[in-house]
Amino acid sequence: MKKLKFFVSVIALLCVISCTAFAGDKYIDIHLHLDGALTLDIAKKLADLQNIKLPASSDSELEKLLTVPEDCKSLNEFLERFALPLTLMQTPEGLRESVRLVLDNIKSQGVVYAEVRYAPQLHCDKGMTQEDAIKAALEGLKESSLKANLILCLMRGEGNDAANFETVELAKKYLVQDGGVVAIDLAGAEALFPTSDYAKFFELARSYNIPFTIHAGEADGAQSVRDAITFGAVRIGHGVRIYESPDVEALVKSKGICLELCPTSSRLTHAVEDMKNYPFMRYLHDEIRVTLNTDDMGIENITLANEFKYMRENFGLTHEDERIILNNAINAAFTTDEVKESLRKIIFEE
Ligand code: HPA
Ligand code: ZN
Repeated sequence: MKKLKFFVSVIALLCVISCTAFAGDKYIDIHLHLDGALTLDIAKKLADLQNIKLPASSDSELEKLLTVPEDCKSLNEFLERFALPLTLMQTPEGLRESVRLVLDNIKSQGVVYAEVRYAPQLHCDKGMTQEDAIKAALEGLKESSLKANLILCLMRGEGNDAANFETVELAKKYLVQDGGVVAIDLAGAEALFPTSDYAKFFELARSYNIPFTIHAGEADGAQSVRDAITFGAVRIGHGVRIYESPDVEALVKSKGICLELCPTSSRLTHAVEDMKNYPFMRYLHDEIRVTLNTDDMGIENITLANEFKYMRENFGLTHEDERIILNNAINAAFTTDEVKESLRKIIFEE
């Protein structure tokens, strides 16, 4: 009996220690677009640095151009907001500084690890090559004190097959386990350019052992997620619409695929029509590996800390749920076991 009591008190003590160690104010963002992460402040700094005249005469005008309105109609309208940030990231210094400033900004908001994604082919308007765009972003990564990695996006669209193949080849050239380019993705207008059209790029990526995530199940349905998983995606950007097919939901669960969910983004793009039906908690309780991310924090005018708060206040996300979500992010991160172990320490023990 004495032994049992002792055992119970040790377990209780361990529980208290582990609960108090996890403060819930450190975050991981594994779905964050560089061009979607420019805040008003960062945009102004990048414009100053490059002597670019911003097409706005006041902060409020600039904010209107940078952020998406509450009455945004679709992902297509949402994606139009990337035009202005991209004009500020067409030189090596603009791109390098954007990476550094975005990383420093999210670090100040409690993020301890991030995977920043961007499409090198969208940074070639003023003479940079895709390779220049990768080198510049790597410099910015080195200059920031936040632990982070890069994901290179291929783009859905017309007439860019050669550019997408080039991105895959460059990902192969620059791929590292940690501290640089760690994976690829497919971004852009999913409803207009179906995932099934992009098999050839991911076949090549697989032959090179490049890990990948794919935006799917956001503007298109569950079949898009099935296609991405068939290609070999180990994570899905969004995937919020898998509930439309119980079979795809079961597939995501059985394969342990991580869903990179982004609530505010899904609300604004209408991937979820009514947030009352947001399936995040159901997926979480069903032990699907969900994570919580920003997607485009500048364009949505949010922070990751706010997204957690939103989920707490509107969906009853608990402390224990947060632990699970952050642990899912660590497990799914495109980095080494060593880094994952250090992240577990930083988030759960410090
Ligand atoms: N979906 C597709 N492409 C994107 C997104 C998104 O949510 N954000 C930035 N590029
Ligand atoms: Zn995205």
